[in-house]
Amino acid sequence: MSSAFTRQLERVVNGVPTQDGAGVSLTRVLTHDLQRRLDPFLMLDAFHSDQPEDYLAGFPNHPHRGFETVTYMLQGRMRHRDNAGNEGLLEPGGMQWMTAGRGLVHSELPEQEDGLMSGFQLWVNLAGSDKMIAPSYSDIASAGIPEVMPQDGVQIRVLAGEAFGVKGAVQRPTTVPLYLDVQMQAGQTLALPIPASHNAFLYVYEGQLQVGSVEQAARTADAGRMAILSNPADAAGVQLQAVGDSRFLVIAGAPLNEPIAQWGPFVMNTREQVEQAIDDFRAGRF
Ligand code: CO
Repeated sequence: MSSAFTRQLERVVNGVPTQDGAGVSLTRVLTHDLQRRLDPFLMLDAFHSDQPEDYLAGFPNHPHRGFETVTYMLQGRMRHRDNAGNEGLLEPGGMQWMTAGRGLVHSELPEQEDGLMSGFQLWVNLAGSDKMIAPSYSDIASAGIPEVMPQDGVQIRVLAGEAFGVKGAVQRPTTVPLYLDVQMQAGQTLALPIPASHNAFLYVYEGQLQVGSVEQAARTADAGRMAILSNPADAAGVQLQAVGDSRFLVIAGAPLNEPIAQWGPFVMNTREQVEQAIDDFRAGRF
């Protein structure tokens, strides 16, 4: 059946506990081996801790080139500074969409000494033709993120893209990302539109979600799990049901179908371009 909500839960992925930056404990939800399957997304980290030793070290000065980083805070405050003099404070419910482009050096450091720090960082690849564009930022406070209630018991914050006729805080060309933070009361069902051309996944961070239509053997994803959605031709989206009161991210984007050459914070198309990035960084050309 065409134009139905036929996406299914293809695979449940457990995050990998790891450390990054100067010793920040986090869960790497989208790992390197999923970059092709989830093109244009390169990484998703979830951080959630009320233990200062898990986050205090932060992410001191480090470079990026060739992609975009999207930081979305649920709780806590993070100060951002870069080598071009840009500075911003990320606060609860706010988002920073950073297009690294040809490169910058920045730090991301907690602006608190205790309490809960909770949020996500997503890396979105840039097309080869855009990897060397000038860096830019969108810093969006919580109040600047549009919300929509398509039905009782379902609240959606539209970070990027569009949902139920509401345009999100950020629109990007080429990858046309959809990024939603959805809150659903237990028992609610939702037919969620997702462009058929997109690779898509969910990340459940509270509750439990039944993914897919019951007739086609829906599967559940628990809190702390990523659910990769299948890509049936012409699917209008996915059918969801909240088993308990649930909160989850919906992330989808148009694949670039280009070679991915990554060395840490440099993501280019070829090894030569990555070596150039390393040379440029060492020579202070960022
Ligand atoms: Co960074």
